[in-house]
Amino acid sequence: MKRRLFVTTALPYANGSFHIGHIMEYIQADIWVRFQRMRGHEVHFVCADDGHGAPIMLKAQAEGITPEALIARIAAERPQYLNGFHISFDNWHSTHSPENTELSQDIYRALKANDLITTRVIEQFFDPVKEMFLPDRYIKGECPKCGAKDQYGDSCEACGAVYAPTDLRNPTSTLSGATPVMRQSEHFFFRLSDPRCVAFLRDWTQGGRLQPEVANKAREWLDGESGLGDWDISRDAPYFGIPIPDAPGKYFYVWLDAPIGYLASLKNHFAKGQAAPQTAQTYDAFVTDPGVEQYHFIGKDIIYFHTLFWPATLHFSGRKTPDNVFVHGFITVSGEKMSKSRGTGISPLRYLELGMNPEWLRYYIAAKLNARVEDIDFNPDDFVARVNSDLVGKYVNIASRAANFLVKHFDGQVLDPRTLPAWATLNAQAVSHDIAACIEGREYGKALRAAMEFADRVNQYFDAEKPWEMARDPARREALHAVCSVCLAGFHALTIWLKPVLPALSAQAEAFMGCAPLTWSDLDRPPTRIQRYEHLMGRVDPKLLDALFDPPDAPPSAPPSAPAAKADKAVSSGAASANAAKPGSAGAGASKAGTGPASHEGVDTGPISIDQFMNVELRIARIVEASAVEGSDKLIRLALDLGEGRLRNVFSGIRSAYDPAQLVGRHTVVVANLAPRKMKFGISEGMVLSASWDDPSQGPGIFLLGADTGAQPGMRVR
Ligand code: 2FM
Ligand code: ZN
Repeated sequence: MKRRLFVTTALPYANGSFHIGHIMEYIQADIWVRFQRMRGHEVHFVCADDGHGAPIMLKAQAEGITPEALIARIAAERPQYLNGFHISFDNWHSTHSPENTELSQDIYRALKANDLITTRVIEQFFDPVKEMFLPDRYIKGECPKCGAKDQYGDSCEACGAVYAPTDLRNPTSTLSGATPVMRQSEHFFFRLSDPRCVAFLRDWTQGGRLQPEVANKAREWLDGESGLGDWDISRDAPYFGIPIPDAPGKYFYVWLDAPIGYLASLKNHFAKGQAAPQTAQTYDAFVTDPGVEQYHFIGKDIIYFHTLFWPATLHFSGRKTPDNVFVHGFITVSGEKMSKSRGTGISPLRYLELGMNPEWLRYYIAAKLNARVEDIDFNPDDFVARVNSDLVGKYVNIASRAANFLVKHFDGQVLDPRTLPAWATLNAQAVSHDIAACIEGREYGKALRAAMEFADRVNQYFDAEKPWEMARDPARREALHAVCSVCLAGFHALTIWLKPVLPALSAQAEAFMGCAPLTWSDLDRPPTRIQRYEHLMGRVDPKLLDALFDPPDAPPSAPPSAPAAKADKAVSSGAASANAAKPGSAGAGASKAGTGPASHEGVDTGPISIDQFMNVELRIARIVEASAVEGSDKLIRLALDLGEGRLRNVFSGIRSAYDPAQLVGRHTVVVANLAPRKMKFGISEGMVLSASWDDPSQGPGIFLLGADTGAQPGMRVR
């Protein structure tokens, strides 16, 4: 039976580039979707930019542009990642769109008509300078429990205490530095505490559809001490969001309209007529068809929104609810946690710019994924070993071995393997069945293990039969033809199974076997004639992994993170981050584009405020140890004393200008509050500052900053 599928990935915030975590999720969903298409099902796979909310509004303000311009700039970056990693979305839209405004307002009206919206006056911190209410993350102060300074409004990083922003001692607004005042305002609430909602959500979350660990989480929330509270869905102006009907100055909280963006993107997809080849139906007919299955791929950090708020929003506005949400864990890099905003030490764009094959990453990630909510780890050595051994050593190897004999001795003709006893012993049908079940259940690792076991058996068969000996004996010509035909049929089967993971390689393999496009049922249609074998995939050179983790060309310094590349540059001339080559950032990419020698990239945002500058914590450090980094010709490892009672490990790209030995004992300036960044050689916990020209053609050299005599480790530089 032909299934009708509506599939989404989480909508990424429109204030930042993709990081490896996004790419992992897209790869996971894309494999599933490609598999469903190969099975002949109707699939609509959509995503969109999540454009609303305070952070986007404030970021745009800081850059002196409109939020729309910020969204557009980020949206313009998306295709290079999506095309680069072969992510086959049918549509990409935005939550800041007419479709989403209309849908969100309609849904709100339906909830209201259902007596599920209420208003209440609440008291909140208000920034008297910025004249806006402050979300918790924009309030800092001293921890009410341990007194640690500079803690966020919701929890203390020093002692772990969790509290309300109003509990902070000496609170300040991180936006203006002003002391916030308490102010009252009327807010709109979705009455999730209504017994109808609680009963519905208990059913929906505990009915067996969710992954067990996800269902357990939802149960904890539903059965927790305070039960399900009403959900505050409004925000006061100034806010970048969708206006609440008949409530001037009130906007929907971003998390109300974000998932509705799934529907908005689908609607936009239908409106563009792109869905037409699949279905003659309208959007309305599609979303009301009880046969349509709706699935959302998401990360474990947004389970709450997708298993409670979202199904309730849909159900009580009279809509179909998702069939399931598929939750994955995070991706760590060499065991190191990723930051949501910064990502990890791997930049997806750098991966592509290095010319690394996107299908290596697709395969590696797939091989690690299962249906549980587990984190997966990107380990560079494991990556090289896995790709080289499985894809090159096992899979592609079969084609190159068999094809040479078939083309040379049999003009490329392939015997029907179903007439050959050896083929039956490989049991391809049963393997195919298992692999399909695994992919359907998102057990990709298992699926690929089954495929590689099959590849092992084909290679063992080839080795045992020794076709190279048969080729020397005219009497064994038929046997040679049979052995190579069986192996080629094995390659054909493997290509079907790997096609959802390796779409580009499969396209080449299809051309080679003359069987494009392969669908899942084509196991019964083996190739009859092949072309000359052309190299299908190269081995991963481990040096590429070094380059992936190393900063780009000739960076004077290796910063621990790449937050605002522009701000980086303003304080650290020439500093390049792992993300420096991103369009729109002031890094290597901009220089390559031919920025004139006199220009100072990074200072073109206009003046910054003293507060913005003071956000960069510069401190004096004494270089206690310095050593060359084995395997890198750019980096020096520094052990720095910042007067903290411990030494910080910092990698700096100054090797071309300095001997490690001459650095020991010197004082220099360090950006002390950059979040630690995982690099190939270890964690970098800061960035030392040095001077160099923006454009190397202006003059050579990297000059480490120093301090006048008397400066002590830990002193603030301001
Ligand atoms: O967590 C995030 O990145 C959100 N932008 C995800 C939104 S998913 C959906 F609800 F739109
Ligand atoms: Zn504390």
